[in-house]
Amino acid sequence: MILVTGGAGYIGSHTCVELLERGYEIVVMDNFSNSKPDALDKIRQITGKDFKFYEADMCDREAMDRIFAENNIDAVIHFAGYKAVGESVQKPLMYYNNNLMGTIVLCEAMKKYGCTKILFSSSATVYGNPKTVPIKEDFPLSTTNPYGTTKLFIERILEDVVVANPDWSVVLLRYFNPIGAHKSGIIGENPNGIPNNLVPYVARVACGKYEAVHVFGNDYPTPDGTGVRDYIHVVDLALGHVKAMEKAMTCTGVNVYNLGTGKGYSVLDIIKAYEKACGKEIPYVIDPRRAGDIPTCYADPAKSLEELGWKATMGIEEMCEDSWRFTVNNQD
Ligand SMILES: NC(=O)c1ccc[n+]([C@@H]2O[C@H](COP(=O)([O-])OP(=O)(O)OC[C@H]3O[C@@H](n4cnc5c(N)ncnc54)[C@H](O)[C@@H]3O)[C@@H](O)[C@H]2O)c1
Repeated sequence: MILVTGGAGYIGSHTCVELLERGYEIVVMDNFSNSKPDALDKIRQITGKDFKFYEADMCDREAMDRIFAENNIDAVIHFAGYKAVGESVQKPLMYYNNNLMGTIVLCEAMKKYGCTKILFSSSATVYGNPKTVPIKEDFPLSTTNPYGTTKLFIERILEDVVVANPDWSVVLLRYFNPIGAHKSGIIGENPNGIPNNLVPYVARVACGKYEAVHVFGNDYPTPDGTGVRDYIHVVDLALGHVKAMEKAMTCTGVNVYNLGTGKGYSVLDIIKAYEKACGKEIPYVIDPRRAGDIPTCYADPAKSLEELGWKATMGIEEMCEDSWRFTVNNQD
């Protein structure tokens, strides 16, 4: 049995689908702080499979204890956490409390119930402003905002847990920029409020909810001056978790993997690909650079291919088409 924390969220829901379709048994927990209960029914609708769900806060010791007491959990995929960079600068204590305390409470429950395997949702943000690209897993780590620091601290906490408990298996997955949606158009990214990420914002411009995309800076040292990122289809990312779970089941210690495509696309490349997907022009305005943004970031995914046998297969056209299908189906 696999416990999925934050399983009602964007990446968590797609990963639940891929796990269920491969016959894994899962139990999901979420407090819906950034998701809605209907995500769970949508997972059931896509897969035709049922699973147990707990509405609970991972910082709640009693609730976490109950989840482990009532289920025979072999491994955890730990998605739950706050993820908005800008908000983390405004509310650092809320971010440290939720992301760090929640992880500590989770690990204590794991320890108490003898569960020794965990996959953690880290981020490429732990590489700070890398000196070169593509980025390899052994590059130096640094952060530029409290959100990123929670990711780095949690990596360190889990590494220390392994030092003290060498039978544990920790897999740190550093995601690049997940976008897109499930092919069914049933689940996808639909953040509450104004989206922090580019593609959900572009999607809302495409369906007329906002007037124009704000492009932060066009004077970066990149081919068209706008920021370059490694966009990865969320289903490719979900499949990376299935492979990483197979790895975690067969080894101990800490393993770190980049989950990216290895290709960089600019903000304007994404806008153009989205225009093609939705058949409309997407207006944009150039705004000043945003503090903390870096010019270029893309992965070297070679280690993931070599050790996990995982590789992203979908390109930005497919990512934008799938995002648009989801957007059209969910225009509430
Ligand atoms: N989306 C990205 O661009 C990206 C990139 C790198 C890393 N990540 C990390 O991946 C993970 C999943 O990201 P996502 O995009 O699916 O985000 P998301 O916000 O859609 O999902 C996170 C889920 O965790 C839940 N949650 C938050 N705090 C909780 C708590 N205390 N108890 C129980 N549930 C709680 C939320 O309600 C939400 O459903 C996060 O840890 C995020 O930091 C995301």
